[in-house]
Amino acid sequence: MVSLATDYCGATFPNPFILPSGIAQNIPEDHLRAEAGGAGGITAKSLTPEPREGNPMPRVIQVRIDGKPLGIMNSVGLKGPGLLKGIPLLKDLIKRSRVPVIVSIFGASISDFQILAEGMTAVKPRILELNLSCPNVSSEFGEPLGMGAKTAGTVVAAVKKIVGKMPVIAKLSPNYPGIGEIARSCEAEGADGIVAINTVGPGMVIDIRKRKPVLGAKSGGVSGSIIKPVAIRCVWDVYEAVKIPIIGMGGVTTVEDAVEMMMAGATLVGVGSATYVKGMTVYSELAEGMTQYLRENKITLSELVGWAHRA
Ligand code: SIN
Repeated sequence: MVSLATDYCGATFPNPFILPSGIAQNIPEDHLRAEAGGAGGITAKSLTPEPREGNPMPRVIQVRIDGKPLGIMNSVGLKGPGLLKGIPLLKDLIKRSRVPVIVSIFGASISDFQILAEGMTAVKPRILELNLSCPNVSSEFGEPLGMGAKTAGTVVAAVKKIVGKMPVIAKLSPNYPGIGEIARSCEAEGADGIVAINTVGPGMVIDIRKRKPVLGAKSGGVSGSIIKPVAIRCVWDVYEAVKIPIIGMGGVTTVEDAVEMMMAGATLVGVGSATYVKGMTVYSELAEGMTQYLRENKITLSELVGWAHRA
């Protein structure tokens, strides 16, 4: 009997395909749509200390290469309700969801992360994600704290001190050298898991008729099929560097992509940009495809994780 149930940081996910942070915007409505589409878990949009209007429109666009829709670019700019209004919304999401909810926080400084972590002790999520890697707000806040091993580890240590036993995972960027070393520093400071990767870039698309960049913020993080090889390599590097489990994401659209991501080392697989192309039912499609793959290949999900490292 094939089972897709996956344990990650003490929570049981009915299948390994989860909504990453940054895709669904409104809490809880947009997030619950992913669950209705079959997602095995939900990550809420990263919460910031203060409410944020977000970057100018358009914020999310399709990237076409050679006429084919191969990617997405976003520069949402962490639009959101801020901590005070966010706490009841997150509590509501957790109450209404039947799958594990990962809550995500973004701070521009260690003290921001500490304030947010205090707030999360009231929310009590199953897992807390530290977004150390948003590429869309650096003109405002400078480079993300996850750009270096030392700062990333310092944030993890500061948050762990506040949230105690709550599992903490760090979402890392592909945009700085040494993702394995950064993951190792997070693990050494108490991180319970790693999320790899956030979007690549930032990148830019220019409308040649209007002769100007398409995104309102001009540039934004790149995701979707075009970044999959970068994501696979990053997950591979993190798996080689740490023992804590990985949520792998970046360009997963088909069951073959998911198998590849797991063979690189992912225990759970984030599926984000594919929802723009296939809709939220992409999660149940992947779950069905994975069940068939495991049956045909006579292997289990846990055997798939990191397989390529042992080959
Ligand atoms: C955004 O809100 O700009 C995206 C969030 C992220 O990439 O971390």
